Order: sequence, then C-alpha cells, then structure tokens
Amino acid sequence: MQQVRIVVVAGDGIGPEVTREAQLVLDAVAGRHGLAIEFEEHLIGGASIDAHGTPLRDEVIERARASQAVLLGAVGGPKWDAMPVSTRPERGLLRIRKELGLFANLRPATVFPALAAASTLRPEIVGGVDLLVVRELTGGLYFGEPRGRATENGRRVARNTMVYDEDEVVRITRVAFEAARGRRKHVTHVHKANVLEVSQLWVEVVDEVAKEYPDVALAHQLVDSCAMLLVRDPARFDVIVTENLFGDILSDEAAQITGSLGMLPSASLGAGGIGLYEPVHGSAPDIAGQDVANPLAAILSAAMLLEHSLGAHAAAQQVRDAVTAVLEAGHRSADLLLPGERRESVGCRAMGELVRKRLMER
Ligand code: IPM
Ligand code: MG
Repeated sequence: MQQVRIVVVAGDGIGPEVTREAQLVLDAVAGRHGLAIEFEEHLIGGASIDAHGTPLRDEVIERARASQAVLLGAVGGPKWDAMPVSTRPERGLLRIRKELGLFANLRPATVFPALAAASTLRPEIVGGVDLLVVRELTGGLYFGEPRGRATENGRRVARNTMVYDEDEVVRITRVAFEAARGRRKHVTHVHKANVLEVSQLWVEVVDEVAKEYPDVALAHQLVDSCAMLLVRDPARFDVIVTENLFGDILSDEAAQITGSLGMLPSASLGAGGIGLYEPVHGSAPDIAGQDVANPLAAILSAAMLLEHSLGAHAAAQQVRDAVTAVLEAGHRSADLLLPGERRESVGCRAMGELVRKRLMER
C-alpha cells in the first residue's frame, strides 16, 4: 500500500459539499489501486477568516508542505466582499499557490459529448473541443510590486505591476510544450505584445524554448483575438499558454464553451512536487448548502490528483470514465439542464453517489 496524505481545504460556499464528494470518490478508488489515503482537513478563505481572523494560517501551509497533494474547494462570498484585497478570502488561495510554488495551472476544457447541447454555442462549433489552458499562476499582476492604493495630490490612485523575469517564462513554457507532446502537439502562446513590454519578453522567450521542441508547432496569438477565436472556432486550440491574468480570463471563457463551469477541474503544479487540485468554478454562495451544486468538477479534480500527484493513471481514468458514464446515462445536475428541459435534476450528493456506484461496478 502506498501511504498518501492529502490536505483538504474545502473553503466557502459550495466548496465543502463538492469537496466531500471528491474525497468519497478518492476513498472509493484508493484501495483497489494500492493507495491508503489519509485526509487532513483545514480551513481556508472566509471560513478561516471567521475562525482565525486570517484567510490562511501559516500552520496550514506547513501541513500542506508535508503532504503529497492539496484538495481545495472554493473561497469567497458576499459576507467578505467589502474587505480590502489584502485581507479577503481570495488572499488565502493566492497565498497557498505562491507559498507552495505552484506556478503552473493546468485547466483542461473538454466537451463531454453528452453535454454538447448544454453549451451556449452551437453543437457543431463545440463538438471536438479539447483544449488545455496552461496558466502562469504565481507572477504577473497578481503578485507584482509595487502595488496598492494611495492618495497623491489629493486624489485616490491605485496601482498594480505586471512583471515577469525570463526564468518564470521559461518554466511555464516548458510545462506547456511537455503537455502538448502528449496531446496534439500544438501550442498557442497568448499575449499583448503590440502594447506590453512584458508580452514582448514572453514572445522572445517562448520562441527560444520552442527550439527545444521541434516536434511541437507554435503560434503566437494576441489575447483579444484569442478571446474572439475561442467562441468562433474553439476546436482549433490544443494547448494555450499564457500569463496569469490572461489565463484567468480565458480559462473561464473556455469553460463556458464546454457547457458548464461546473464540469471543469484544475491542477496547480510546481517544482516542489506538491500539487493543488481545485474545481475552476467559484464558491457559488447563492446555491451553497442546498445540495444542488455540481460536484463533477471537484471529482474530476480528484482524478487529476490521482494522475499528477500519485501517478495512479488507471485510477484517474476510471474516475473520468465513471463521470462520462453517469452523464451518458442521462443524469444532470441543475447547472447542466438546458433551459426548458423537463428532466429531473440530480443533487450534489446523489451525483457523487452515482459516480461511486459506477466505480464499484467495475
Ligand atoms: C481562479 C479564480 C481566482 C483567480 C480568484 C478566486 C482569486 O478566479 O482560480 O481562476 O483569480 O486566480
Ligand atoms: Mg478565475
């Protein structure tokens, strides 16, 4: 048996409900794949602010460092919305990413054939979409200094700084090219080099790194036209690599193309060997605690954990297959129903149970 310790930070809103289903799925597959998983639960985000006055305690970072992987739910909610950015729930998430050195955020957006009709784009446009956004996660505007607010000459001003050094660009670019090698061998680098020096540096460095991967094709795409192409012809993209803020925005767009943000998982990886796994969706406070959230993004994030942190490829595939089978059998959480569709929707717990039942049948 391989002993595995996973730190669980379920966070706020629907975070705890969807994370619970992901844990139960991990429990369900573990034994048969030689894994003995121990979960250790901690607070993050608003829940941690309420209990400890800070969105993430140092102690939790230490526990995460001593673990193999972190399973995260979501952070934030209206209760903490009026707080300044420096103390908000989101700070807990940004801090754990930064402190664990998780510079590479992988956000796959694939269309499950059973859900193609749930997309707001026409089925013939979304059919065959299978792309991976590789988002730089610990640099750029999110972390650049100087930052902050001030009063200058009697006026309020605020500033953030977009800054990258070449090493940060090299390492994320390598992640993208390595990923492309296992896929359709095409990388699109997204930038704003017609305006930003930072983007010009990215173009230069990405071109240099690309020379190490002669088997992978590279295109550079301006971020505004990429946003347009994603809704016009999303199937053209394989791997998209980009800086932090562009990646934040484009990954939500890519998610919506697939029909539901409720389906998309993510992995955040770094040099330290610890991975953090979280659904791309947020804390959805409007539906929290009602057992109507879609746990599939969290469950698919658990599959990414099995794959990237534990090397349990067969187990990961079984989880993905179980999710596909449940959808193909016609089960839908509320977010996946089409407007006017009469089908009865499945709650959060019931959806998790359906996935586990499929896993047990194998
Ligand atoms: C995401 C989220 C976060 C981000 C927020 C909650 C800080 O939007 O993971 O995409 O901007 O990175
Ligand atoms: Mg986002």
